Amino acid sequence: MARLTVAADEERLSDTAADRVTTLLQQTTSSRGAALVSLTGGSTPRRLYARLADASAAWRPRIQWPQLHVFWGDERHVPPDHPESNYRMAKEALLDHVPIPREQVHRMRGELADAQDAAAEYEQTLADAFRSAGREDRAFDVMLLGVGEDGHIASIFPGSELLSDDTVGHPLLSRRVAAVWASHLNTWRITLTPAATLDAHAILVLVSGARKADAVKNAIEGPLDVNQ
Ligand code: 6PG
Repeated sequence: MARLTVAADEERLSDTAADRVTTLLQQTTSSRGAALVSLTGGSTPRRLYARLADASAAWRPRIQWPQLHVFWGDERHVPPDHPESNYRMAKEALLDHVPIPREQVHRMRGELADAQDAAAEYEQTLADAFRSAGREDRAFDVMLLGVGEDGHIASIFPGSELLSDDTVGHPLLSRRVAAVWASHLNTWRITLTPAATLDAHAILVLVSGARKADAVKNAIEGPLDVNQ
């Protein structure tokens, strides 16, 4: 069941998202022990991550941080200390400030020369982590996503082969992670596939800014055909 919440500004958006994420994590860790969370990259979630990490705010003490296992929905083809790295952004805003065991932080290795290798490695990382957590369904407990002006989520861009009906029966269809060439950005990206994204038990999409209005409107009111 989808729920649309409109916040007055970015501050309230982040507070609302912090409340929702905290409640989801509390419910998950109390009912399932571990919580497997996929973080989004981009700039929008930085404020949310800082909210969750803030020791003076209400959210951080409510979350059972040592029970969290952290993953990413996508990563740029850059080293982990690169300004464009989604891992670096989350590390600076959140992970450096909360007690999640390092071995429970599973980043995509964007530094590998071949993005395909990074995707294949992360496919195995996910399989190992979900098996260790005793999860047969390979579904993240909480999936955070942003939205691009063109409507993309993670690094699944309009027209992506990941969205093509041609993938039916294609090896990609069974994949949870893929390397995609983002021609408009002239770079490779590593991303969860649509299946791995949509399998999540709870998905929270965080969007702000007038530039995203058309993408959001189209997502809510537009045709279900992802290619339109
Ligand atoms: C990324 C993200 C991407 C992002 C959107 C929105 O690696 O950039 O995963 O999907 O969420 O592009 O980005 P902003 O929050 O910066 O607008």
